[in-house]
Amino acid sequence: MKLVHTAVDLRAALAGARDTAFVPTMGNLHAGHLALVERAKQLGQPVVASIFVNPLQFGAGEDFERYPRTLAADCEKLAAAGCDLVFAPEVAEMYPQPQTYAVAVPDRIANDLCGAFRPGHFNGVATVVLKLFNLVQPRVAVFGKKDYQQLQVIRDLVRQFNLPVGIEGVDTLREGDGLAMSSRNGYLSQAERLQAPQLQRELAATVAAVQAGERNFAALCRTAARHLAMAGWRVDYVELRDAATLAAPTPDSRRLVVLGAAWLGATRLIDNLDFALD
Ligand code: PAJ
Repeated sequence: MKLVHTAVDLRAALAGARDTAFVPTMGNLHAGHLALVERAKQLGQPVVASIFVNPLQFGAGEDFERYPRTLAADCEKLAAAGCDLVFAPEVAEMYPQPQTYAVAVPDRIANDLCGAFRPGHFNGVATVVLKLFNLVQPRVAVFGKKDYQQLQVIRDLVRQFNLPVGIEGVDTLREGDGLAMSSRNGYLSQAERLQAPQLQRELAATVAAVQAGERNFAALCRTAARHLAMAGWRVDYVELRDAATLAAPTPDSRRLVVLGAAWLGATRLIDNLDFALD
């Protein structure tokens, strides 16, 4: 596996490879990230991963500075997973000048769900992903459903800008107790770590209630949020949406997704479960 840090070296390393499968990450890799690499490998193309903690997608007071940077360990994991090339640029390499041109995600997405609590976040994600796609020029890129709204933004970005990249979504990998794997789980204290799977349990209870015929979605979401709040979480949102559009479910919605974001102490966790309505 080759490791490069600059756009010039990336181009040189890619010179022979026509079609690549790309896995963008911010590093501090866990089995969830490696599942994306595995999916990319199944596509039968050389696999390129990027590791870049993107300042543009972090708001003031968020965890950009303390986000864990573990390049050596990440490279060992990527090599073991069969990744062919890693692009790990410095901030100055990605943003040699202030990024004054940017992707403007439409308000209805940028100000919805996580966007409502993280102003500018999805513009920062869309902008860096567009730059990474231009640098790597992959045939396919693989993203996790763990960041469900992000995946939706990337699909829209590719469609609306006619980017010649196929987008693959991979199911969320979880710990044995149901907690979605996340680099941010490392911030949790022992007690918080024990409590953290409750987010997934409340989402699962919401899914079960819908599947049992309950149709008052707002009441179900309020109940889940109340349970979390009673246990000490600070809830940003719990919402049931159409899984394809992320808009409010309509009578025609066939698949739904319940999404939640909540804080345990100083750590913000997100999770979601998508499911069929029958
Ligand atoms: P990061 O949080 O490092 O996640 C990189 C990719 O791994 C994303 O596609 C994310 O959805 C996926 N992922 C994270 N946890 C997962 C899990 N438990 N199971 C399956 N997939 C999981 O998302 C980002 O970085 C950034 O926003 C990025 C797209 C790289 C742009 O900066």
